[in-house]
Amino acid sequence: MHTIAVLPGDGIGDEVVREGLRVLEAVSAVTGFRYKLEHYPYGAEHYLKTGETFPDSALRAMRDHDAILLGAIGDPRIEVGMLERAIIAGIRFGLDLYVNLRPIKLYAEHLCPLRDLTPSQLDLVVVRENTEGAYVGVGGIMKRDTPNEVAICNMVWTREGTERVIRYAYDLARRRGKSKRLTLVDKANAIRPMDIWTRLFERVGKDYPEIETDHAYIDAACMWMVKNPEGFDVMVVSNLFGDIITDLGAMLQGGLGIAASGNLHPGQVSMFEPIHGSAPKYRGKNVACPVATVMAVQMMLDHLGDADGAALVEKAVANALQTRKIPSLSAGAIPTDKAGDLIIEEVKALAGAAG
Ligand SMILES: NC(=O)c1ccc[n+]([C@@H]2O[C@H](COP(=O)([O-])OP(=O)(O)OC[C@H]3O[C@@H](n4cnc5c(N)ncnc54)[C@H](O)[C@@H]3O)[C@@H](O)[C@H]2O)c1
Repeated sequence: MHTIAVLPGDGIGDEVVREGLRVLEAVSAVTGFRYKLEHYPYGAEHYLKTGETFPDSALRAMRDHDAILLGAIGDPRIEVGMLERAIIAGIRFGLDLYVNLRPIKLYAEHLCPLRDLTPSQLDLVVVRENTEGAYVGVGGIMKRDTPNEVAICNMVWTREGTERVIRYAYDLARRRGKSKRLTLVDKANAIRPMDIWTRLFERVGKDYPEIETDHAYIDAACMWMVKNPEGFDVMVVSNLFGDIITDLGAMLQGGLGIAASGNLHPGQVSMFEPIHGSAPKYRGKNVACPVATVMAVQMMLDHLGDADGAALVEKAVANALQTRKIPSLSAGAIPTDKAGDLIIEEVKALAGAAG
C-alpha cells in the first residue's frame, strides 16, 4: 500500500488534481496498484484563513508518504513568490529533492508549433538540478529604493550537489537505452565558476564509458532544441537554466497543458507536479487542461514501481491526443472534467483490449 500526499494548492490546482486522481483510480482498478491518499490544504486560502504558509509539521508529515502530488501554488492576492518559496521550494529543499526530471515528448505532430516536427524527433529528458544554483537565496538587497541600491543574487554549486545530479543523469541515459547520449548544458564560457560542472561531468563520465557525451552552452542549447531536438537524449542542466529551457520544451510538446515533472530523491519520498503554475485567470472555470497533472500521475506510478500503470496512462493520453478527442492542450479547448473522462475511457478501452 502506497501513501500519497495530495496538495492541490491554488488557482487551477484543484481542478487538474481532481482529474489526475480520477485517472489514478481508473488505472489502479486495472493494475491493482494500492494506495491511500492524504489531502493537505496548504496554499492561498489556507494562508488567508490561518496565516500559515507551510509549517515544519507539514514538512515532517511529507516524509511519512511514498509520494507527493502537487497541483500549483501562487495567488495574486498574496505577495509575489511568498507561497511558492514556502511550499514548492520548502518541499524541494526541505526533502532534498535534488533531481527535477522533465520528460519532453511529442505525442502528436499537430500539437507542435514547429512546422514538420514529428514525434520521432522529440523524445528527450531534462535532468535539472533542483536544490542549488540561483535559487538558494544567498544574496539580498541593500539601500532599497535609493539611488545607491545594490541587488546581489549568488549562484551556488557544491561538488556534492553537482556530482550527484550528473551521476543521476548518466544512470538515466544508461537506463533509457535510447541513443545513450548525455548532453551537459551550461554557460561555463561566461560564468567561469560553472567550470565545476565541466570537470565533474568529465570525471563522472569515466564510470560510464558506453555513454556518448556532448556539450552545449545554454543559449545554443535553446537554438538546437528548436532546430534539431532529435540530437538530444538526456540533458543535465543547472537549476535556473533548467527552469527556463523546460518551458521551451513544454511548448515544443504542445504547451504547458501537458508538461509534467518529478522532483526526486532516489529512494526517498518524491514529489510530482505539472510544470505550469496556478493560472489564476482560469480558476474555477473548468477550462484548464489536466493532461500535465495526469502525466505527473504517470511519472508517480512509474516511480512507485507500477510500470504497467504508467504505460497505460501514457498510452491513454497519447490515444486521446492522436485521435484529437482532446484537440489541443490550450485552456478552453475542452472542459477540464471532459478531458479527464476521455482519458479514463481510453484507459478502460486499452485494459479491455488487453484483457
Ligand atoms: N510549480 C508551481 O506551482 C508554479 C509554477 C509556475 C508558476 N507558479 C505561480 O503560478 C502563478 C501564475 O504564474 P504564471 O501566469 O507565470 O504561469 P502559469 O503557468 O500559471 O500560466 C501561464 C499561462 O500558461 C497557460 N497554462 C498554464 N497552465 C495551463 C493548463 N493547465 N491548461 C491550459 N493552459 C495553461 C495559461 O495560458 C496561462 O496563462 C504565479 O503565482 C506563479 O508564481 C507556480
